[in-house]
Amino acid sequence: MTEEAGARAIDALLAEERRYPPQPEFTARANAQADIYDRNFEEFWDTEAKARVSWLAPYDSLYEWDLPYAKWFLGGKLNISYNCVDRHVENGLGDKVAYYWEGEPVDDRRVITYADLQGLVVKAANGFRKLGIERGTHVGVYMGMVPELPITMLALARIGAPFTVVFGGFSPDSLSGRLNDMQCEYLITQDGAWRRGRIFDLKKNADEAMEMAPTVKAAVVLRRGGNEIGWQEGRDHWWHDVVEHESDDPSSCPPEAMDAEDLFFLMYTSGTTARPKGIMHTTAGYLVGTSVTHHYIFDVKPDDVFWCAADIGWITGHSYIVVGPLANATTSVMYEGLPDFPDRDRWWQIVERYKVSILYTAPTTIRTHMKWGPEYAASHDLSSLRLLGSVGEPINPEAWIWYREHVGGGRTPVVDTWWQTETGMILITPLPGLTTLKPGSATKPFPGVEAAVYDDHGNEVPPGGGGYLVIKTPWPAMLRGIYGDPERYQQTYWSRFPGVYFVGDGARKDEDGDFWLMGRVDDVMNVSGHRISTIEVESALVDHPEVAEAAVCGRNDPMTGQAIVAFVTLKGGKEGSPEKMTELRDHVAKVIGPIAKPANIVFTPELPKTRSGKIMRRLLRDVAENRALGDTTTLADASVVEEIKERATVTPTED
Ligand code: WT7
Repeated sequence: MTEEAGARAIDALLAEERRYPPQPEFTARANAQADIYDRNFEEFWDTEAKARVSWLAPYDSLYEWDLPYAKWFLGGKLNISYNCVDRHVENGLGDKVAYYWEGEPVDDRRVITYADLQGLVVKAANGFRKLGIERGTHVGVYMGMVPELPITMLALARIGAPFTVVFGGFSPDSLSGRLNDMQCEYLITQDGAWRRGRIFDLKKNADEAMEMAPTVKAAVVLRRGGNEIGWQEGRDHWWHDVVEHESDDPSSCPPEAMDAEDLFFLMYTSGTTARPKGIMHTTAGYLVGTSVTHHYIFDVKPDDVFWCAADIGWITGHSYIVVGPLANATTSVMYEGLPDFPDRDRWWQIVERYKVSILYTAPTTIRTHMKWGPEYAASHDLSSLRLLGSVGEPINPEAWIWYREHVGGGRTPVVDTWWQTETGMILITPLPGLTTLKPGSATKPFPGVEAAVYDDHGNEVPPGGGGYLVIKTPWPAMLRGIYGDPERYQQTYWSRFPGVYFVGDGARKDEDGDFWLMGRVDDVMNVSGHRISTIEVESALVDHPEVAEAAVCGRNDPMTGQAIVAFVTLKGGKEGSPEKMTELRDHVAKVIGPIAKPANIVFTPELPKTRSGKIMRRLLRDVAENRALGDTTTLADASVVEEIKERATVTPTED
């Protein structure tokens, strides 16, 4: 834990004394009742796994904990697409809406019932199989927020083909890196995706990526944008040619009986090296973990309309747009576009139209709505909302209060849910109707989860103190490793403190046992709720032919949580310019994706280094935050940092 993080958390605690006890009307009907915290760990997961999941063969043992590897529901057989779709149709819920899908162009809507979804999934699975995708085939998915994205994931789950969904905002380099790491043989993509009224050419990126990913032998391309695209005969196939004429009869494509521990998908995420990690999630544990948390934390009832306004390209969408809600036969909203297209009230139109009752989004989006002003929300009837959720980064109390007041009409609980790509499911969270809410605190570990705060020596910090967050017991949806890199898995998560999962976040546990998350403790930044490593951005900068050296850090940003600041030395002692800054920012966008663009670039003839040549990032963070400089005595040349400070003050900040 850095001193600064500690100090910030103390401020937060001192300032934040507002309390929101549960409302009795909510408690009376809540899915989670008070005894849930008394339930024994094994009984809890065993009962829930049997209640919420349909098994083709029962499991022999609940879990096995062979540190650092856990296995869950050993010997059990099941299929995720059966659990998310078929069984609901068999249970008479065929006419229930699975997705209200809203395209970005106004009036572009689809209502997909569970029966529709079953037919669509079966057709896609049949088509994919004819192309050669079979159990165990690795598939990349690079799509926008179209219904065919969850359909693809479910069709692949039906066949038993593990996949990785790559967020549509990632560059060709990022996509090919993932396709190569997973050795994908197929890519499912689309021609173009809508983005603020314009078509973004996904297929062009996919083409570039496939050139660099020789294992990919065929691509399936959904027509969505209608844009002109490149085409490689023999490799590329239109979705409508592959899928449309296939049978939608479920018996034409029975779901594969998957083993509980079969790989379901990989989700790549940033760590402290330039190479993203392929986080492994397996079948049964992920299904149980996401469906159980979805049921209790979002208090979902049969008539609720649930909207997780994330992108399926991230873990949030996998867990809480696709698997959790569908497993629970929930009606969800899925929206393709940006919140301000065509106007800033688009979200509130959607809430009003579908009578959304539960909304789940990220603090950065809440702050954006705050900046736009409450009038957009006020111009629509949001009285259907009864519960709000937040995820992705610590939520500042002001945003929490604004969200509850202006979106939740001052009525709704707000659940601040802490989790990660690696955890697969929410781990620290209030349970609505039970927990006294504190703006800015994710409150308590989910039942069956044991979290703690450790000091540098691995001792538990007494209440009130800050330290490193760790998880002490396994949970069903936990990662099963880093694909192809067991050493990195051991090193990243299990080496800092023996026997416990090292999260990488700082936290404080207060006198009531509530957790306050305080941001990352490693070289990972959190920009708009997405993890980006400093080294990834540095590598992208140094990849530019004119860059000699680069150091990157995050600074606090009122909108995005953190913003990226880069300190760059050009080759041959060249001076920077506003044009060069634009060029370098674009270069980072090209190499990684627009989300990784530095907000600021400070050109400097030298970076502050210790005598042994290590860049002193702590000082760069001081500069980026415009703080007094910390101890500079170990610098090789103390004047360097003063000079950088001066330069930093004249560099403009952009988007
Ligand atoms: C990191 C994980 C899990 C889906 C979104 C991000 C931060 C996440 C919270 C929260 C404070 C949070 C942590 C975590 N984070 N939720 N409610 N309060 N911090 O997934 O990209 O894997 O990032 O996001 O720093 O480690 P991810």
